[in-house]
Amino acid sequence: MVDEFQLHGARIAVEAGALADAARAAAMITERAPSHRPIVIADANVAPRYAAPLAAALGADLLSFPPGEGSKVRAQWAALTDELLARQLGRDTVVVAVGGGVCGDLAGFVAATYLRGVPVVQVPTSLVAMIDAAIGGKTGVDTRHGKNLVGAFHQPALVLIDPLALQTLPAEHRRAGMAEAIKHGVIADEPYFHWIAAHGAALLSPDISAEFAHRLVLGSLGVKVDVVAGDERESGRRRILNFGHTIGHAVEHLSGYRLLHGDAVAIGMVVEARLGELAGLTLPGLADEVSALCVALGLPVRVPPEFSDDAIVALTRGDKKAQGQGARYALPARLGEMIPGDGSFAIAIDEARVRAAIAACR
Ligand SMILES: NC(=O)c1ccc[n+]([C@@H]2O[C@H](COP(=O)([O-])OP(=O)(O)OC[C@H]3O[C@@H](n4cnc5c(N)ncnc54)[C@H](O)[C@@H]3O)[C@@H](O)[C@H]2O)c1
Ligand SMILES: [Zn+2]
Repeated sequence: MVDEFQLHGARIAVEAGALADAARAAAMITERAPSHRPIVIADANVAPRYAAPLAAALGADLLSFPPGEGSKVRAQWAALTDELLARQLGRDTVVVAVGGGVCGDLAGFVAATYLRGVPVVQVPTSLVAMIDAAIGGKTGVDTRHGKNLVGAFHQPALVLIDPLALQTLPAEHRRAGMAEAIKHGVIADEPYFHWIAAHGAALLSPDISAEFAHRLVLGSLGVKVDVVAGDERESGRRRILNFGHTIGHAVEHLSGYRLLHGDAVAIGMVVEARLGELAGLTLPGLADEVSALCVALGLPVRVPPEFSDDAIVALTRGDKKAQGQGARYALPARLGEMIPGDGSFAIAIDEARVRAAIAACR
């Protein structure tokens, strides 16, 4: 079964098993993004299993780079761009990014900038990429000043998602991706939150069924697409996607990025839900409910003792999503509903309260 979404010119197709038939997947890509000379980009983990058959079916060269966040840098962007230039690829090329969020952001940024922009097709293979990174058009690289600081909005022509690729995803990345799925439930879809809670073990299993993988991806996509559709450049409701991320980014940074993003977001969601409760804005009990689901899925929920309140609060101020003096937070009113505030979905909270919420999550 194929499910489809449209988002700012991007077509998003979800089909369990789509990558097993490389010729068909290639035909879907060519139909949506015709090119004489497409180029496929993947990291070295994903290249042999998923990208090579697709590149062969497309008659395209395959460029690969070392796996990991360390590759999401300008040097790797330059190296890949030089590979395209060396092949004298013209404006009729299409970049096909196959892999996790690192590949999608990096190859997407190559496409956004090559000859001032050529089409990109995103073929996300990690849970984070399927339900988050490949959707919404954000591309970019990290710098020593911080993550994602150099980039561009570049909507893909097609996002081709095969949820069955989750079967080969390492367990820690499946777990980390589940944090974003939980987030989607909290911010906009209460039944989805409860569905995850009811099927946690099956969703984490490497033998995840086609049906469950498909439903997992669809549930999250439905939320992300709906939120991003109304707010392409992140000025209003799209900020609800930041739930768990103000504290999460601070904790992730303090860990020296040893904590996976999803693990940091799990901690961030619990702290921020607690913050909402302490501020009298969030229905009491929500923090415990989010925490229980995270724990059931193996996600961390406690703020590591070595990260001081001062360090965390200082980093929330520096968050690029912060405006003005203190950080602003996307806070839930209850499961499935966020607090609009003045329409910005970004609520200013006294830092003493933030410290109290952190203390409650030690
Ligand atoms: N652009 C956005 O809006 C957005 C949103 C969220 C996250 N991101 C970015 O995404 C990145 C994180 O993405 P990620 O968690 O996918 O990391 P990742 O791309 O590093 O993938 C995680 C690991 O899983 C491997 N992998 C991926 N799919 C696989 C599969 N099906 N089978 C086996 N191995 C597989 C990869 O090789 C890698 O080792 C971060 O850089 C983050 O900033 C971007
Ligand atoms: Zn995130």
